[in-house]
Amino acid sequence: MNKLISLISAVAIGLSVSVAVNSSSDAAIAAEVTSRIAPAGTLCMSGQGCAAAPVAAAPSGPRSGEEIYNSKCSTCHATGAAGAPKYGSDAWAPRIAKGIETLYVSAIGGFMGMPAKGMCFDCSDDEIKVAVDYIVKGGQ
Ligand code: HEC
Repeated sequence: MNKLISLISAVAIGLSVSVAVNSSSDAAIAAEVTSRIAPAGTLCMSGQGCAAAPVAAAPSGPRSGEEIYNSKCSTCHATGAAGAPKYGSDAWAPRIAKGIETLYVSAIGGFMGMPAKGMCFDCSDDEIKVAVDYIVKGGQ
């Protein structure tokens, strides 16, 4: 009989312990569920405290003529592909003789086999001009 009582009390203690454990993990589960079913995004109007300062794109600044030449123009002008006057060659002499402004216009707007802006679609006109300056300098 004593054994039975101690067995029952052991079971009772065990149950209450497990209930205690369960109730604390219930809270944890509830918190977990709440976080999982929370909306994926929150609406935050500009000017509200929750709105972070707008992230300004870091201005990279205009690229140098050498950078533009190396990344864009050299595709044709380093090798003479498509009949392009080769960088550093005397093929530039008659072109340089046309005057730098004419070369700017050709490079920006395109000229015969030379595509507009040398296909540098994100180049500003000024970046194309410094690239022309760089090429012309190499051809003198
Ligand atoms: C897809 C090839 C190609 C690329 C890329 C290219 N060019 Fe050219 N470029 C040519 C060809 C071909 C010519 C010669 C056109 C002709 O006279 O028939 C030329 C000619 C020129 C001329 C001389 C134009 C004239 O009036 O005589 C300049 C200046 C020039 N390119 C600048 C550039 C610059 C600057 C870049 C880069 C931003 C560039 N090119 C990229 C093919 C290219």
